[in-house]
Amino acid sequence: MAVKTIDELCNVLLDKRAKAAAGGGEKAVAKHKAKGSLTARERIDLLMDEGSFVELDEFVEHRCTNFGMENKKYLGDGVVTGYGTVGGRIVYVFSQDFTVLGGSLGQMHAAKICKVMDLALRNGCPIVGINDSGGARIQEAVDALDGYGGIFYRNTISSGIIPQMSVIVGPTAGGAVYSPALTDYIFMVDKISIMHITGPAVIKTVTGEEISSEELGGAKTHNSRSGNAHFFAASEQECFQQVRDVLSYLPSNNMGDAPRVATSDPVSRAEMALRTMVPTDSNKGYDVHSVIKAVVDDGKFVEVQAMWAKNIVIGYASFDGLPVGIVANQASVMAGCLDIDCSDKASRFIRHCDAFNLPIVTFVDVPGYLPGKAQEWGGIIRHGAKMLYAYSEATVPLITVVMRKAYGGAYIGMCSKALGADSVLAWPQSQIAVMGAAGAANIIFRKEIEAAKDPQAERAELISEYEDAFATPYQAASRGYVDKVILPEETRYEVIQALKAHRTKRQALPRKKHGVMPN
Ligand code: HXC
Repeated sequence: MAVKTIDELCNVLLDKRAKAAAGGGEKAVAKHKAKGSLTARERIDLLMDEGSFVELDEFVEHRCTNFGMENKKYLGDGVVTGYGTVGGRIVYVFSQDFTVLGGSLGQMHAAKICKVMDLALRNGCPIVGINDSGGARIQEAVDALDGYGGIFYRNTISSGIIPQMSVIVGPTAGGAVYSPALTDYIFMVDKISIMHITGPAVIKTVTGEEISSEELGGAKTHNSRSGNAHFFAASEQECFQQVRDVLSYLPSNNMGDAPRVATSDPVSRAEMALRTMVPTDSNKGYDVHSVIKAVVDDGKFVEVQAMWAKNIVIGYASFDGLPVGIVANQASVMAGCLDIDCSDKASRFIRHCDAFNLPIVTFVDVPGYLPGKAQEWGGIIRHGAKMLYAYSEATVPLITVVMRKAYGGAYIGMCSKALGADSVLAWPQSQIAVMGAAGAANIIFRKEIEAAKDPQAERAELISEYEDAFATPYQAASRGYVDKVILPEETRYEVIQALKAHRTKRQALPRKKHGVMPN
Protein backbone atom coordinates (compact mmCIF):
# COMPACT_ATOMS: atom_id res chain seq x y z
CA MET A 1 0.00 0.00 0.00
CA ALA A 2 1.40 3.38 -1.02
CA VAL A 3 2.39 5.62 1.84
CA LYS A 4 0.05 8.61 1.95
CA THR A 5 1.42 12.13 1.84
CA ILE A 6 0.77 14.51 4.73
CA ASP A 7 -1.52 16.54 2.47
CA GLU A 8 -3.59 13.46 1.68
CA LEU A 9 -3.83 12.61 5.38
CA CYS A 10 -4.78 16.18 6.25
CA ASN A 11 -7.44 16.13 3.56
CA VAL A 12 -8.98 13.02 5.14
CA LEU A 13 -9.25 14.94 8.40
CA LEU A 14 -10.66 18.04 6.70
CA ASP A 15 -13.18 15.88 4.89
CA LYS A 16 -14.30 14.27 8.15
CA ARG A 17 -14.58 17.67 9.81
CA ALA A 18 -16.76 18.93 6.96
CA LYS A 19 -18.97 15.84 7.27
CA ALA A 20 -19.33 16.34 11.03
CA ALA A 21 -20.18 20.01 10.53
CA ALA A 22 -22.87 19.11 8.01
CA GLY A 23 -24.99 17.46 10.74
CA GLY A 24 -27.92 15.56 9.25
CA GLY A 25 -27.23 16.90 5.75
CA GLU A 26 -28.55 19.71 3.59
CA LYS A 27 -32.16 18.49 3.39
CA ALA A 28 -32.53 17.97 7.14
CA VAL A 29 -30.91 21.33 7.89
CA ALA A 30 -33.23 23.10 5.42
CA LYS A 31 -36.27 21.43 7.06
CA HIS A 32 -35.01 22.47 10.49
CA LYS A 33 -34.40 26.07 9.45
CA ALA A 34 -37.81 26.24 7.81
CA LYS A 35 -39.26 25.86 11.35
CA GLY A 36 -37.47 29.11 12.22
CA SER A 37 -34.86 27.27 14.31
CA LEU A 38 -31.11 27.80 14.38
CA THR A 39 -28.64 24.94 13.97
CA ALA A 40 -26.77 23.44 16.93
CA ARG A 41 -23.57 25.22 15.93
CA GLU A 42 -25.24 28.59 15.28
CA ARG A 43 -26.61 28.40 18.81
CA ILE A 44 -23.18 27.79 20.28
CA ASP A 45 -21.88 30.77 18.32
CA LEU A 46 -24.58 32.97 19.86
CA LEU A 47 -23.69 31.77 23.34
CA MET A 48 -19.90 31.92 23.22
CA ASP A 49 -17.48 34.82 22.79
CA GLU A 50 -16.70 35.08 19.08
CA GLY A 51 -14.32 32.43 17.80
CA SER A 52 -13.74 30.90 21.25
CA PHE A 53 -15.53 27.56 20.80
CA VAL A 54 -13.39 24.40 20.82
CA GLU A 55 -15.24 21.27 19.74
CA LEU A 56 -14.62 17.85 21.29
CA ASP A 57 -15.65 14.38 20.13
CA GLU A 58 -16.76 15.47 16.68
CA PHE A 59 -16.12 11.99 15.25
CA VAL A 60 -18.05 9.98 17.83
CA GLU A 61 -20.58 7.58 16.28
CA HIS A 62 -23.28 5.38 17.73
CA ARG A 63 -22.76 1.61 17.94
CA CYS A 64 -26.36 0.55 17.53
CA THR A 65 -27.24 -2.15 15.00
CA ASN A 66 -30.95 -2.48 15.76
CA PHE A 67 -33.52 -1.68 13.05
CA GLY A 68 -30.92 -0.89 10.36
CA MET A 69 -29.17 1.71 12.51
CA GLU A 70 -25.77 0.49 11.25
CA ASN A 71 -26.62 2.33 8.01
CA LYS A 72 -27.64 5.56 9.74
CA LYS A 73 -24.41 6.90 11.17
CA TYR A 74 -23.53 10.57 11.53
CA LEU A 75 -20.24 11.95 12.81
CA GLY A 76 -20.86 13.54 16.20
CA ASP A 77 -23.99 11.43 16.85
CA GLY A 78 -26.41 14.33 17.04
CA VAL A 79 -24.82 16.50 19.69
CA VAL A 80 -22.10 19.14 19.44
CA THR A 81 -19.99 19.37 22.60
CA GLY A 82 -16.99 21.35 23.79
CA TYR A 83 -16.00 24.53 25.56
CA GLY A 84 -15.40 28.20 24.89
CA THR A 85 -15.59 31.47 26.75
CA VAL A 86 -18.51 33.63 27.85
CA GLY A 87 -17.39 37.07 29.00
CA GLY A 88 -13.81 35.75 28.92
CA ARG A 89 -14.46 32.80 31.28
CA ILE A 90 -14.48 29.13 30.29
CA VAL A 91 -17.93 27.57 29.91
CA TYR A 92 -18.70 24.02 28.76
CA VAL A 93 -21.56 23.35 26.38
CA PHE A 94 -23.56 20.67 24.65
CA SER A 95 -25.95 21.47 21.84
CA GLN A 96 -28.27 18.81 20.47
CA ASP A 97 -28.57 18.66 16.70
CA PHE A 98 -32.16 17.95 15.71
CA THR A 99 -31.11 17.36 12.09
CA VAL A 100 -29.41 14.11 13.16
CA LEU A 101 -31.98 11.47 14.09
CA GLY A 102 -34.15 14.18 15.64
CA GLY A 103 -31.42 15.00 18.17
CA SER A 104 -32.44 11.78 19.91
CA LEU A 105 -30.30 10.60 22.78
CA GLY A 106 -28.53 7.25 22.50
CA GLN A 107 -25.61 5.72 24.38
CA MET A 108 -22.79 7.63 22.64
CA HIS A 109 -24.75 10.89 22.42
CA ALA A 110 -25.19 10.66 26.20
CA ALA A 111 -21.52 9.72 26.69
CA LYS A 112 -20.50 12.93 24.91
CA ILE A 113 -22.76 15.00 27.16
CA CYS A 114 -21.49 13.22 30.29
CA LYS A 115 -17.89 13.89 29.23
CA VAL A 116 -18.38 17.67 29.10
CA MET A 117 -20.38 17.57 32.32
CA ASP A 118 -17.48 15.77 34.03
CA LEU A 119 -14.97 18.24 32.61
CA ALA A 120 -17.07 21.21 33.74
CA LEU A 121 -17.33 19.83 37.27
CA ARG A 122 -13.65 18.87 37.50
CA ASN A 123 -12.50 22.24 36.20
CA GLY A 124 -15.07 24.26 38.15
CA CYS A 125 -16.73 25.87 35.13
CA PRO A 126 -20.40 26.51 34.28
CA ILE A 127 -22.15 24.24 31.78
CA VAL A 128 -24.88 25.21 29.34
CA GLY A 129 -27.07 22.48 27.84
CA ILE A 130 -28.88 23.38 24.62
CA ASN A 131 -31.80 20.98 24.30
CA ASP A 132 -33.50 20.19 20.98
CA SER A 133 -34.35 16.51 20.89
CA GLY A 134 -36.98 13.87 20.22
CA GLY A 135 -35.92 12.27 23.53
CA ALA A 136 -34.64 8.75 24.13
CA ARG A 137 -33.41 7.20 20.85
CA ILE A 138 -36.03 4.55 20.45
CA GLN A 139 -33.76 2.12 18.56
CA GLU A 140 -31.21 2.17 21.39
CA ALA A 141 -33.78 1.23 23.99
CA VAL A 142 -32.39 0.80 27.50
CA ASP A 143 -28.96 2.18 26.53
CA ALA A 144 -30.72 5.49 25.90
CA LEU A 145 -32.43 5.36 29.28
CA ASP A 146 -29.14 4.58 30.99
CA GLY A 147 -27.67 7.59 29.17
CA TYR A 148 -30.32 9.87 30.66
CA GLY A 149 -29.72 8.38 34.10
CA GLY A 150 -26.02 9.28 33.85
CA ILE A 151 -26.93 12.86 32.96
CA PHE A 152 -29.44 13.23 35.82
CA TYR A 153 -26.83 11.86 38.24
CA ARG A 154 -24.23 14.38 37.09
CA ASN A 155 -26.75 17.26 37.20
CA THR A 156 -27.43 16.42 40.83
CA ILE A 157 -23.81 15.98 41.87
CA SER A 158 -22.86 19.26 40.15
CA SER A 159 -25.75 21.20 41.73
CA GLY A 160 -24.48 24.05 43.88
CA ILE A 161 -20.90 23.50 42.69
CA ILE A 162 -21.04 24.86 39.14
CA PRO A 163 -23.80 26.94 37.53
CA GLN A 164 -25.87 24.77 35.17
CA MET A 165 -28.09 26.40 32.56
CA SER A 166 -30.63 24.63 30.34
CA VAL A 167 -31.74 26.24 27.11
CA ILE A 168 -34.81 24.64 25.53
CA VAL A 169 -34.97 25.37 21.81
CA GLY A 170 -37.09 22.53 20.49
CA PRO A 171 -39.00 19.59 21.90
CA THR A 172 -38.09 18.08 25.28
CA ALA A 173 -40.40 15.28 26.25
CA GLY A 174 -40.83 12.45 28.71
CA GLY A 175 -38.16 11.92 31.34
CA ALA A 176 -35.84 14.07 29.23
CA VAL A 177 -37.31 17.15 30.93
CA TYR A 178 -35.71 16.11 34.20
CA SER A 179 -32.18 17.09 33.27
CA PRO A 180 -33.26 20.73 32.74
CA ALA A 181 -35.36 20.55 35.91
CA LEU A 182 -32.26 19.58 37.90
CA THR A 183 -30.25 22.57 36.68
CA ASP A 184 -30.22 26.13 38.03
CA TYR A 185 -32.28 27.70 35.26
CA ILE A 186 -34.45 26.85 32.27
CA PHE A 187 -34.53 29.34 29.38
CA MET A 188 -37.35 29.02 26.81
CA VAL A 189 -38.13 30.71 23.49
CA ASP A 190 -41.63 31.67 22.40
CA LYS A 191 -43.13 29.27 19.83
CA ILE A 192 -39.92 27.23 19.62
CA SER A 193 -39.55 25.49 22.99
CA ILE A 194 -41.76 22.65 24.19
CA MET A 195 -41.49 20.69 27.44
CA HIS A 196 -43.85 18.07 28.77
CA ILE A 197 -43.84 14.67 30.41
CA THR A 198 -46.65 13.29 28.24
CA GLY A 199 -47.70 14.97 25.02
CA PRO A 200 -51.15 16.02 23.76
CA ALA A 201 -51.86 12.63 22.11
CA VAL A 202 -51.26 10.62 25.28
CA ILE A 203 -53.23 13.11 27.37
CA LYS A 204 -56.18 12.84 25.00
CA THR A 205 -56.15 9.04 25.27
CA VAL A 206 -55.79 8.95 29.05
CA THR A 207 -57.86 11.90 30.28
CA GLY A 208 -59.81 12.96 27.21
CA GLU A 209 -58.46 16.51 27.45
CA GLU A 210 -57.59 18.22 24.19
CA ILE A 211 -54.76 20.70 24.19
CA SER A 212 -52.14 21.92 21.74
CA SER A 213 -48.47 21.24 22.29
CA GLU A 214 -47.78 24.97 22.66
CA GLU A 215 -50.50 25.49 25.25
CA LEU A 216 -49.48 22.38 27.14
CA GLY A 217 -45.75 22.97 27.34
CA GLY A 218 -44.69 26.11 25.46
CA ALA A 219 -42.49 28.93 26.71
CA LYS A 220 -45.42 31.05 27.92
CA THR A 221 -47.00 28.15 29.80
CA HIS A 222 -43.86 27.20 31.70
CA ASN A 223 -42.88 30.80 32.42
CA SER A 224 -46.26 32.02 33.61
CA ARG A 225 -48.26 28.98 34.70
CA SER A 226 -46.16 26.07 35.94
CA GLY A 227 -43.10 27.97 37.14
CA ASN A 228 -40.86 25.33 35.53
CA ALA A 229 -39.05 27.89 33.40
CA HIS A 230 -37.13 30.94 34.58
CA PHE A 231 -36.58 33.02 31.45
CA PHE A 232 -38.81 33.81 28.47
CA ALA A 233 -37.40 35.11 25.20
CA ALA A 234 -39.03 36.21 21.96
CA SER A 235 -36.14 34.85 19.86
CA GLU A 236 -33.17 32.53 20.16
CA GLN A 237 -30.87 35.56 19.90
CA GLU A 238 -32.52 37.16 22.93
CA CYS A 239 -32.42 33.84 24.78
CA PHE A 240 -28.67 33.33 24.45
CA GLN A 241 -28.06 36.94 25.49
CA GLN A 242 -30.08 36.20 28.63
CA VAL A 243 -27.84 33.20 29.37
CA ARG A 244 -24.76 35.40 28.96
CA ASP A 245 -26.28 38.07 31.24
CA VAL A 246 -27.06 35.57 34.00
CA LEU A 247 -23.62 33.96 33.82
CA SER A 248 -22.03 37.41 34.20
CA TYR A 249 -23.48 37.64 37.75
CA LEU A 250 -22.23 34.21 38.81
CA PRO A 251 -18.85 32.86 39.82
CA SER A 252 -17.47 29.96 37.75
CA ASN A 253 -17.98 27.70 40.76
CA ASN A 254 -18.89 27.66 44.46
CA MET A 255 -15.28 28.22 45.55
CA GLY A 256 -15.02 31.65 43.93
CA ASP A 257 -16.69 35.03 43.84
CA ALA A 258 -18.59 36.47 40.90
CA PRO A 259 -16.62 39.02 38.88
CA ARG A 260 -17.29 42.67 39.68
CA VAL A 261 -19.71 44.50 37.42
CA ALA A 262 -18.28 47.62 35.75
CA THR A 263 -20.08 50.74 37.02
CA SER A 264 -19.50 54.43 37.62
CA ASP A 265 -22.74 54.91 39.57
CA PRO A 266 -21.84 57.01 42.67
CA VAL A 267 -21.97 55.12 45.97
CA SER A 268 -23.73 57.95 47.76
CA ARG A 269 -26.28 58.68 45.02
CA ALA A 270 -29.35 59.75 47.01
CA GLU A 271 -32.57 59.05 45.13
CA MET A 272 -35.08 61.51 46.63
CA ALA A 273 -37.89 59.95 44.58
CA LEU A 274 -37.76 57.00 47.00
CA ARG A 275 -39.57 59.16 49.57
CA THR A 276 -42.73 59.05 47.50
CA MET A 277 -42.25 55.83 45.55
CA VAL A 278 -43.63 53.76 48.44
CA PRO A 279 -46.84 55.44 49.67
CA THR A 280 -47.08 55.84 53.44
CA ASP A 281 -50.70 54.68 53.16
CA SER A 282 -50.11 50.98 53.61
CA ASN A 283 -53.18 50.09 51.56
CA LYS A 284 -51.75 51.66 48.42
CA GLY A 285 -49.81 49.58 45.91
CA TYR A 286 -46.72 50.49 43.86
CA ASP A 287 -44.27 48.66 41.66
CA VAL A 288 -41.27 47.42 43.64
CA HIS A 289 -39.22 47.25 40.43
CA SER A 290 -38.97 51.03 40.57
CA VAL A 291 -37.49 50.84 44.09
CA ILE A 292 -34.97 48.19 43.07
CA LYS A 293 -33.94 50.10 39.97
CA ALA A 294 -33.57 53.33 41.95
CA VAL A 295 -31.00 51.86 44.33
CA VAL A 296 -28.91 49.32 42.35
CA ASP A 297 -26.03 50.22 40.04
CA ASP A 298 -27.18 52.01 36.88
CA GLY A 299 -30.76 50.80 37.34
CA LYS A 300 -29.77 47.39 35.94
CA PHE A 301 -31.80 44.47 37.26
CA VAL A 302 -31.86 41.01 35.63
CA GLU A 303 -35.12 39.49 36.79
CA VAL A 304 -35.62 35.74 37.24
CA GLN A 305 -39.11 34.20 36.77
CA ALA A 306 -40.59 37.59 35.94
CA MET A 307 -43.86 36.06 34.73
CA TRP A 308 -44.66 33.68 37.61
CA ALA A 309 -45.57 34.23 41.29
CA LYS A 310 -45.30 37.95 40.68
CA ASN A 311 -46.08 38.78 44.32
CA ILE A 312 -42.36 38.30 44.91
CA VAL A 313 -39.61 39.69 42.69
CA ILE A 314 -36.21 37.99 42.45
CA GLY A 315 -33.13 38.61 40.33
CA TYR A 316 -29.59 39.87 40.02
CA ALA A 317 -28.16 43.35 40.33
CA SER A 318 -25.00 44.95 41.67
CA PHE A 319 -24.13 47.51 44.34
CA ASP A 320 -20.91 49.44 43.72
CA GLY A 321 -19.96 46.66 41.30
CA LEU A 322 -20.61 43.81 43.76
CA PRO A 323 -23.11 41.30 42.32
CA VAL A 324 -26.01 40.41 44.62
CA GLY A 325 -29.28 38.51 44.58
CA ILE A 326 -32.40 40.60 45.23
CA VAL A 327 -35.61 39.33 46.86
CA ALA A 328 -38.48 41.83 47.13
CA ASN A 329 -42.17 41.71 48.00
CA GLN A 330 -44.31 43.14 45.20
CA ALA A 331 -47.05 45.23 46.85
CA SER A 332 -48.93 45.63 43.57
CA VAL A 333 -49.66 41.88 43.29
CA MET A 334 -51.82 40.33 46.04
CA ALA A 335 -50.56 43.17 48.26
CA GLY A 336 -47.22 41.33 48.38
CA CYS A 337 -48.61 38.44 50.48
CA LEU A 338 -46.50 35.29 50.69
CA ASP A 339 -48.18 32.28 49.09
CA ILE A 340 -47.23 28.78 47.97
CA ASP A 341 -45.72 29.68 44.61
CA CYS A 342 -43.81 32.74 45.72
CA SER A 343 -42.32 30.79 48.65
CA ASP A 344 -41.08 28.14 46.22
CA LYS A 345 -39.74 30.80 43.89
CA ALA A 346 -37.91 32.83 46.52
CA SER A 347 -36.55 29.96 48.60
CA ARG A 348 -34.95 28.26 45.61
CA PHE A 349 -33.35 31.55 44.56
CA ILE A 350 -32.04 32.18 48.08
CA ARG A 351 -30.39 28.74 48.07
CA HIS A 352 -28.96 29.39 44.60
CA CYS A 353 -27.43 32.70 45.77
CA ASP A 354 -26.08 31.07 48.92
CA ALA A 355 -24.53 28.21 46.91
CA PHE A 356 -22.76 30.68 44.63
CA ASN A 357 -21.59 33.19 47.25
CA LEU A 358 -23.90 36.01 46.23
CA PRO A 359 -24.99 38.31 49.09
CA ILE A 360 -28.77 38.66 49.30
CA VAL A 361 -30.52 42.01 49.65
CA THR A 362 -34.15 41.61 50.73
CA PHE A 363 -36.72 44.41 50.34
CA VAL A 364 -39.65 43.92 52.70
CA ASP A 365 -43.22 45.12 52.43
CA VAL A 366 -45.32 42.15 53.43
CA PRO A 367 -48.74 41.96 55.11
CA GLY A 368 -48.53 38.22 55.86
CA TYR A 369 -49.28 34.84 54.37
CA LEU A 370 -52.15 34.63 51.89
CA PRO A 371 -55.30 33.40 53.66
CA GLY A 372 -57.64 30.85 52.08
CA LYS A 373 -58.64 27.23 51.80
CA ALA A 374 -56.71 26.73 48.57
CA GLN A 375 -53.51 27.88 50.24
CA GLU A 376 -54.01 25.83 53.40
CA TRP A 377 -54.97 22.67 51.51
CA GLY A 378 -52.21 23.27 49.00
CA GLY A 379 -49.65 23.14 51.78
CA ILE A 380 -48.74 26.77 52.50
CA ILE A 381 -47.30 25.50 55.80
CA ARG A 382 -44.66 23.32 54.16
CA HIS A 383 -44.09 25.69 51.22
CA GLY A 384 -43.84 28.78 53.42
CA ALA A 385 -41.41 26.92 55.68
CA LYS A 386 -38.96 26.81 52.77
CA MET A 387 -38.38 30.56 53.10
CA LEU A 388 -37.47 30.16 56.77
CA TYR A 389 -35.23 27.23 55.93
CA ALA A 390 -33.47 28.90 53.01
CA TYR A 391 -32.68 32.15 54.84
CA SER A 392 -31.68 30.36 58.05
CA GLU A 393 -29.17 28.09 56.37
CA ALA A 394 -27.74 30.84 54.13
CA THR A 395 -24.24 31.89 55.18
CA VAL A 396 -23.73 34.67 52.61
CA PRO A 397 -24.13 38.31 53.74
CA LEU A 398 -27.83 39.01 54.27
CA ILE A 399 -29.05 42.60 54.15
CA THR A 400 -32.71 43.36 54.85
CA VAL A 401 -34.41 46.65 54.03
CA VAL A 402 -37.86 47.05 55.60
CA MET A 403 -39.71 49.58 53.46
CA ARG A 404 -43.21 49.46 54.90
CA LYS A 405 -45.18 46.51 56.30
CA ALA A 406 -43.45 43.62 58.03
CA TYR A 407 -46.15 41.71 59.83
CA GLY A 408 -46.23 38.48 61.76
CA GLY A 409 -44.70 35.28 60.41
CA ALA A 410 -44.02 36.96 57.10
CA TYR A 411 -41.81 39.52 58.91
CA ILE A 412 -39.71 36.61 60.12
CA GLY A 413 -39.86 34.83 56.74
CA MET A 414 -38.51 37.85 54.86
CA CYS A 415 -35.10 37.54 56.51
CA SER A 416 -35.52 39.04 59.95
CA LYS A 417 -32.63 39.42 62.38
CA ALA A 418 -33.48 36.12 64.04
CA LEU A 419 -33.07 34.17 60.79
CA GLY A 420 -29.56 35.52 60.38
CA ALA A 421 -29.84 38.95 58.72
CA ASP A 422 -26.49 40.68 59.14
CA SER A 423 -27.91 44.17 58.69
CA VAL A 424 -31.54 45.16 59.03
CA LEU A 425 -32.29 48.66 57.77
CA ALA A 426 -35.77 50.19 58.09
CA TRP A 427 -37.43 53.20 56.53
CA PRO A 428 -39.31 55.68 58.78
CA GLN A 429 -42.71 54.47 57.49
CA SER A 430 -41.97 50.84 58.43
CA GLN A 431 -44.55 49.01 60.47
CA ILE A 432 -42.96 46.05 62.16
CA ALA A 433 -45.67 44.34 64.15
CA VAL A 434 -47.59 41.12 64.68
CA MET A 435 -50.32 42.39 62.36
CA GLY A 436 -51.81 45.56 60.86
CA ALA A 437 -53.19 48.15 63.26
CA ALA A 438 -56.86 47.64 62.26
CA GLY A 439 -56.73 43.88 62.81
CA ALA A 440 -54.79 44.24 66.04
CA ALA A 441 -57.19 46.84 67.48
CA ASN A 442 -60.21 44.67 66.62
CA ILE A 443 -58.74 41.83 68.66
CA ILE A 444 -57.13 43.46 71.66
CA PHE A 445 -59.66 46.31 72.13
CA ARG A 446 -62.82 44.35 71.20
CA LYS A 447 -64.49 44.91 74.56
CA GLU A 448 -63.65 48.64 74.68
CA ILE A 449 -64.98 49.15 71.14
CA GLU A 450 -68.22 47.27 71.88
CA ALA A 451 -68.78 49.22 75.13
CA ALA A 452 -68.10 52.64 73.59
CA LYS A 453 -70.90 55.12 72.91
CA ASP A 454 -69.56 55.65 69.41
CA PRO A 455 -67.85 52.34 68.52
CA GLN A 456 -66.64 53.64 65.13
CA ALA A 457 -64.91 56.66 66.65
CA GLU A 458 -63.53 54.58 69.50
CA ARG A 459 -62.18 52.04 67.03
CA ALA A 460 -60.47 54.74 64.94
CA GLU A 461 -58.98 56.24 68.10
CA LEU A 462 -57.64 52.89 69.30
CA ILE A 463 -56.22 52.01 65.87
CA SER A 464 -54.38 55.29 65.82
CA GLU A 465 -53.11 54.64 69.36
CA TYR A 466 -51.86 51.22 68.32
CA GLU A 467 -50.24 52.65 65.19
CA ASP A 468 -48.37 55.27 67.20
CA ALA A 469 -47.11 52.68 69.65
CA PHE A 470 -46.33 49.66 67.51
CA ALA A 471 -46.71 50.33 63.78
CA THR A 472 -43.31 52.00 63.53
CA PRO A 473 -39.73 50.80 63.14
CA TYR A 474 -38.80 52.22 66.54
CA GLN A 475 -40.00 49.40 68.77
CA ALA A 476 -37.97 46.91 66.72
CA ALA A 477 -35.04 49.36 66.68
CA SER A 478 -35.21 49.76 70.48
CA ARG A 479 -34.65 46.01 70.78
CA GLY A 480 -31.90 45.78 68.16
CA TYR A 481 -34.03 43.80 65.68
CA VAL A 482 -33.49 46.76 63.35
CA ASP A 483 -29.87 47.92 63.19
CA LYS A 484 -30.55 51.29 61.67
CA VAL A 485 -33.55 53.42 60.73
CA ILE A 486 -32.62 55.22 57.52
CA LEU A 487 -34.10 57.80 55.18
CA PRO A 488 -35.36 56.16 51.98
CA GLU A 489 -32.82 58.12 49.91
CA GLU A 490 -29.98 56.77 52.05
CA THR A 491 -30.78 53.19 51.01
CA ARG A 492 -28.19 52.78 48.26
CA TYR A 493 -25.38 54.20 50.38
CA GLU A 494 -26.35 52.18 53.47
CA VAL A 495 -26.76 48.90 51.57
CA ILE A 496 -23.32 49.37 50.01
CA GLN A 497 -21.79 50.09 53.44
CA ALA A 498 -23.44 46.98 54.87
CA LEU A 499 -22.27 44.84 51.96
CA LYS A 500 -18.72 46.13 52.43
CA ALA A 501 -18.85 45.43 56.14
CA HIS A 502 -20.05 41.85 55.66
CA ARG A 503 -17.90 40.90 52.67
CA THR A 504 -15.50 39.01 54.87
CA LYS A 505 -18.30 37.14 56.64
CA ARG A 506 -17.36 33.52 57.33
CA GLN A 507 -20.04 31.43 58.98
CA ALA A 508 -19.81 27.68 59.39
CA LEU A 509 -22.94 25.64 60.09
CA PRO A 510 -22.76 22.52 62.29
CA ARG A 511 -21.39 19.57 60.28
CA LYS A 512 -24.05 17.30 58.83
CA LYS A 513 -24.62 15.23 55.72
CA HIS A 514 -27.43 17.51 54.61
CA GLY A 515 -30.61 18.92 56.06
CA VAL A 516 -34.14 17.75 55.32
CA MET A 517 -35.78 20.71 53.64
CA PRO A 518 -39.58 21.03 53.75
CA ASN A 519 -40.93 20.01 50.33
C1 HXC B 1 -35.30 8.05 17.26
C2 HXC B 1 -36.31 9.92 16.46
C3 HXC B 1 -36.83 10.19 17.72
C4 HXC B 1 -36.54 9.30 18.77
C5 HXC B 1 -37.46 11.75 16.40
N1 HXC B 1 -36.73 10.90 15.68
N2 HXC B 1 -37.55 11.34 17.66
N3 HXC B 1 -35.55 8.85 16.24
N4 HXC B 1 -35.76 8.24 18.49
N5 HXC B 1 -36.98 9.52 20.02
C6 HXC B 1 -36.41 11.01 14.26
C7 HXC B 1 -37.61 10.81 13.37
O1 HXC B 1 -37.81 9.44 13.15
C8 HXC B 1 -37.17 11.52 12.11
O2 HXC B 1 -36.29 10.70 11.41
C9 HXC B 1 -36.36 12.69 12.66
O3 HXC B 1 -35.99 12.31 13.98
C10 HXC B 1 -37.15 13.97 12.72
O4 HXC B 1 -38.37 13.69 13.36
P1 HXC B 1 -39.78 14.19 12.79
O5 HXC B 1 -40.82 13.41 13.49
O6 HXC B 1 -39.76 14.16 11.30
O7 HXC B 1 -39.78 15.71 13.26
P2 HXC B 1 -41.01 16.56 13.73
O8 HXC B 1 -42.16 16.39 12.82
O9 HXC B 1 -40.47 17.95 13.90
O10 HXC B 1 -41.45 16.00 15.15
C11 HXC B 1 -40.56 16.08 16.26
C12 HXC B 1 -41.07 15.23 17.44
C13 HXC B 1 -41.39 13.79 16.92
C14 HXC B 1 -42.33 15.88 18.01
C15 HXC B 1 -39.99 15.25 18.51
O11 HXC B 1 -40.26 13.36 16.20
C16 HXC B 1 -41.65 12.85 18.02
O12 HXC B 1 -42.73 12.84 18.57
N6 HXC B 1 -40.66 12.01 18.34
C17 HXC B 1 -40.83 10.98 19.33
C18 HXC B 1 -40.81 11.60 20.70
C19 HXC B 1 -40.80 10.56 21.76
O13 HXC B 1 -41.83 9.93 22.04
N7 HXC B 1 -39.59 10.30 22.31
C20 HXC B 1 -39.44 9.37 23.34
C21 HXC B 1 -39.84 10.12 24.60
S1 HXC B 1 -39.66 9.13 25.98
P3 HXC B 1 -36.22 10.69 9.81
O14 HXC B 1 -35.20 9.64 9.50
O15 HXC B 1 -37.59 10.38 9.36
O16 HXC B 1 -35.80 12.08 9.44
C22 HXC B 1 -38.20 9.58 26.48
C23 HXC B 1 -37.82 8.85 27.70
C24 HXC B 1 -36.70 9.55 28.36
O17 HXC B 1 -37.52 10.37 25.98
C25 HXC B 1 -36.58 8.91 29.68
C26 HXC B 1 -35.50 9.55 30.45
C27 HXC B 1 -35.53 9.00 31.83
